[in-house]
Amino acid sequence: MSNDKTNGITFGYQTSIGGVEEENKFLRESVTNLERELEKFKRTPLILCEVRDLLDDKVLIRLPNGNEFLVDSAGGLGKISPGDSVLAEQKNLTIIRKVDQVRKFDADKFVIIDKPTLTWQNVGGLQAQEREIKEVIELPLMKPELFKKIGIEPPKGILLYGPPGTGKTLLAKAVAASTKSTFIEVVGSELVQKFIGEGAKLVKEIFQLAREKAPSIIFIDEVDAIAAVRIDVGTSGEREVQRTFMQLLAEVDGFNPLGNVKIIGCTNRKDILDPAITRPGRLDRLIHVPLPNEEGRKEIHKIHTRNMTLAKINTDKIIKEMEGFSGAEIKAVATEAGYFAIRENRTKITEQDFMNAIAKVNEEVKTEGQDYLRMFG
Ligand SMILES: Nc1ncnc2c1ncn2[C@@H]1O[C@H](COP(=O)(O)OP(=O)(O)OP(=O)(O)O)[C@@H](O)[C@H]1O
Ligand SMILES: [Mg+2]
Repeated sequence: MSNDKTNGITFGYQTSIGGVEEENKFLRESVTNLERELEKFKRTPLILCEVRDLLDDKVLIRLPNGNEFLVDSAGGLGKISPGDSVLAEQKNLTIIRKVDQVRKFDADKFVIIDKPTLTWQNVGGLQAQEREIKEVIELPLMKPELFKKIGIEPPKGILLYGPPGTGKTLLAKAVAASTKSTFIEVVGSELVQKFIGEGAKLVKEIFQLAREKAPSIIFIDEVDAIAAVRIDVGTSGEREVQRTFMQLLAEVDGFNPLGNVKIIGCTNRKDILDPAITRPGRLDRLIHVPLPNEEGRKEIHKIHTRNMTLAKINTDKIIKEMEGFSGAEIKAVATEAGYFAIRENRTKITEQDFMNAIAKVNEEVKTEGQDYLRMFG
């Protein structure tokens, strides 16, 4: 009995020693963990830098603020090449790690990336423009060796200018389709308004994206929003636009004309463009996309009515009535004419439907169109 008791006590005593040791071990581990955590807090963060060049056993890196330094790199990092992203410690800027996958800034969410399928057959009345685009964009993308052999450098990009709705976007998409290129669409005004303070960075990333997805065409709509002559760069907003513009010029200057990335800029306001953008070696081919003439209107009308069931109509009369219309307006006329027929439960579209549609479109665009002409001629 007493033995049992002793045993019991002994047993209990051992248990408590075991418990204390257990607790001790646990506390020790906690201390080690906390020390490790503390160590982490004491360590300075690493800076993400870009490798610019390799010089003997040193590496030239660029910091996010733009400063460049020649630094060492820790061993065992594997091969480092220009363009890589690396992490450097802040004191000596020694490269500690290579970063394989830096999360892209929002460039790929911000731009529209597309593989257009539309053909030249969808473009009406712009043969001269089409020919020129084929020569300066299509040919170099398809046959760069031809240019190398002959020894000339094709333009890096073109600038399409002209009134709204005349087929500029259409031309750009058609050449992207014919060259099976990735079509990267950026809108100038959005670039500087939506991502305040990030415009320049975005431009850089858009060009990088284009190189990754090459062959590609960077389509910059409303390029005047970035590349307008600035009378006053005093405000911070203006300075931001200026920075974005400078980055755009730097990117354009930086790439090889024989590479498989081309730029197509677009504007309704060629008059306010900074000549820096159209300087030789940049978007130096200017292509005017005017309102269609009679022949052009006929072609565009044909394109947009080719799937419609038409009654016997006098096409020439309709074309005459659409004097001064843009391609977009000619398309709108076809759609409106279709609606007039639908409203009367007809499946054939009559000449009168077209006349009504023209009157309607005329009414809608008259004010806008005149505003445009008054402002920009
Ligand atoms: N030359 C054309 N041939 C056939 N369709 C055309 C033509 N021009 C315009 N269109 C029609 O009008 C629509 C708008 O044209 P598009 O977007 O190419 O105009 P844009 O010149 O880029 O105008 P904006 O300056 O306003 O951007 C096209 O999708 C097309 O349906
Ligand atoms: Mg357009």
